[in-house]
Amino acid sequence: MENLWLADVLARPVPESVRFLSRADVLDCLARVDVVAAVRDALVSHHLGRTILPSEAYLSWTNQHGAYSRSIGMPGAILEEGAEGAYGMKIINASVSNPEFGLERAGGLGLCFDPRTARVIAVMEVGVLSAVRTAAVTAIAVETAGYQAVRSLAVVGCGTQARVHLALLLTRCPELSRITLCDVRRPVAENLAGELASRHPGISFSVAATPVEAMDEAETTLFLTTVAEGYVQPDWVRPGSLLVNVSLGDLTDEVLVNASALFVDDVQLIVENPRRPLGRLVNEGRIAAKEQEGQPSITATIGELLAGETIAQRPDTGYVVVNPFGLGILDVALFGAVLRQANSADIGQALELV
Ligand SMILES: NC(=O)c1ccc[n+]([C@@H]2O[C@H](COP(=O)([O-])OP(=O)(O)OC[C@H]3O[C@@H](n4cnc5c(N)ncnc54)[C@H](O)[C@@H]3O)[C@@H](O)[C@H]2O)c1
Repeated sequence: MENLWLADVLARPVPESVRFLSRADVLDCLARVDVVAAVRDALVSHHLGRTILPSEAYLSWTNQHGAYSRSIGMPGAILEEGAEGAYGMKIINASVSNPEFGLERAGGLGLCFDPRTARVIAVMEVGVLSAVRTAAVTAIAVETAGYQAVRSLAVVGCGTQARVHLALLLTRCPELSRITLCDVRRPVAENLAGELASRHPGISFSVAATPVEAMDEAETTLFLTTVAEGYVQPDWVRPGSLLVNVSLGDLTDEVLVNASALFVDDVQLIVENPRRPLGRLVNEGRIAAKEQEGQPSITATIGELLAGETIAQRPDTGYVVVNPFGLGILDVALFGAVLRQANSADIGQALELV
């Protein structure tokens, strides 16, 4: 037997455990959390400088099926104010071939840290939380950009994000009456349209063959695909509409450069990531990182909109783009909210570490 000597090297440790939350546990906790309010508060804290948001760690590779695969490490902190502070990290991994094998494309873990000892105190399934926080940012962006009364919506890409986005927006946009879905895998769009139609009989759901057809009559279009190359052309965009570029890759440079207003979640993260189109355009000097009259520029952050420092206006002829990079601090804020529920209702299981 090798290395038995290791057992006696360290002093007798104090017992330590980690709370583990499965997806079912997370859903149980989330039922008691106002996710949009939690994400909104975190965006405001970020705007007020009460967060720590380090750069992401990004690892990518091609798997044995030739599919793009990656792991992103996203640490962050909402600085402690009373009991609402949160420290942690999201590890979100994805491979675009996963859906072929019946797996969700993205999955990973959320970690909560103890602010005093810095220990990991909770580990939770993150797929659903990641989708919920992303949908919450979209809902907040739609509202603060002046599109809350939207009646017609198009969704391009009908996977996990689309399901969660639609579930949330259907509770928050009371005037929605027409939703058009589009997916390169048409049956995926048809299945989702069928499911939603049976749950929301007062709303008309249809499936479009192409993104341009889906966008034709939509006041707001959500891009939730996995494309790497921009393909949406400026003349596809309906005047006065809002484009939410969640997948970050669908819009061509021309669509980004010609937007009448361009809202983001964080300028710094975008600038640091030239592998994404908006970051590349800012680094090339084709879009200014700060608003500049008469020049393509980032208009404001969603935090500035929430703080009322910028008032968004729906354009008559132009269009608005929201480009949410995805902030780890928003996940960490939700992990904290979930953990508070888990602690108070004793949800999940304790894993003994030492
Ligand atoms: N910005 C953010 O904060 C953030 C956060 C989470 C996820 N995302 C992004 O959201 C996107 C969607 O994530 P998901 O988990 O729903 O993925 P998913 O794989 O579950 O769904 C993507 C869907 O898009 C479809 N699709 C791919 N290319 C298409 C095209 N050209 N036209 C129409 N449909 C197309 C696929 O068939 C699939 O159904 C990903 O790009 C992901 O990276 C962004």
